Amino acid sequence: MITSHIYCGITMDKFTVLSMFITFVTSNDVLKFIPHDKSTQNTKPIQWTPPGFCNGLDCPPFIVGNETDEYQERFYAQSTWVSTELLGIDYDKAQYKMFMKLFKYIEGGNKKKMKIAMTCPVTTRIIPGQGAACKSNFTMSFFIAGKVKNPPGPSEDDVRLRPQPALHVYVRSFGGYVHHFDEWREEAEKLIAALEKDGREFEREYYYTAGYNAPFQLFNRHNEIWFIAK
Ligand SMILES: *[C@@H]1O[C@H](CO)[C@@H](O)[C@H](O)[C@H]1NC(C)=O
Ligand SMILES: *[C@@H]1O[C@H](CO)[C@@H](O)[C@H](O)[C@H]1NC(C)=O
Repeated sequence: MITSHIYCGITMDKFTVLSMFITFVTSNDVLKFIPHDKSTQNTKPIQWTPPGFCNGLDCPPFIVGNETDEYQERFYAQSTWVSTELLGIDYDKAQYKMFMKLFKYIEGGNKKKMKIAMTCPVTTRIIPGQGAACKSNFTMSFFIAGKVKNPPGPSEDDVRLRPQPALHVYVRSFGGYVHHFDEWREEAEKLIAALEKDGREFEREYYYTAGYNAPFQLFNRHNEIWFIAK
């Protein structure tokens, strides 16, 4: 399809891309005029400077542990996410459905009809082959920035707000467009091999894909695979 666009491996139509573009641009603090306010200067005890790959969007704070050419160990603080779950065979189709549900939530499809700025990454936890007929259990999540003090309850039953306890993860980063699930799986296999080589203990039952970019961003795209450290 020539008119379709890809986001985090999700193919979508022009209208969706346009509304996402608006959400991303209005979410992007770099593009906004931020008045200097001395009174707020000492309110944050820890200064978190998001890495460049967060593109000026809010993303969850982490501390880097061990690093190799193949992966980075990260310690994420506890945080809040909005999630939806789906049992399915096809990752790409599942991504599209789940993305639309979460996107609707931040676009005001919630109990307070509140618009919430887009953040990154968009993560999907994959538990392979858990359901009948080898269906995988997918959970997609959007990070809720700490500055959103009382995130509104979702208006759909299959969307939920979820506290995420602190995470200890091994992360493999790679660039470019991810067009098919096979590309994510190949990166996951590379990460498994690197972790095994170094004798790292990690949770093998599931892993995460993490996408950081909107479809209209052509360059400097950033994607990650996460395994939970044990
Ligand atoms: C880095 O790896 C070494 C060797 O496996 C380990 O002893 C150390 O605790 C790790 N550092 C962190 C911050 O986890
Ligand atoms: C997906 O996996 C989670 C964690 O194991 C579980 O709580 C949930 O019930 C599963 N969802 C479905 C639809 O099986």
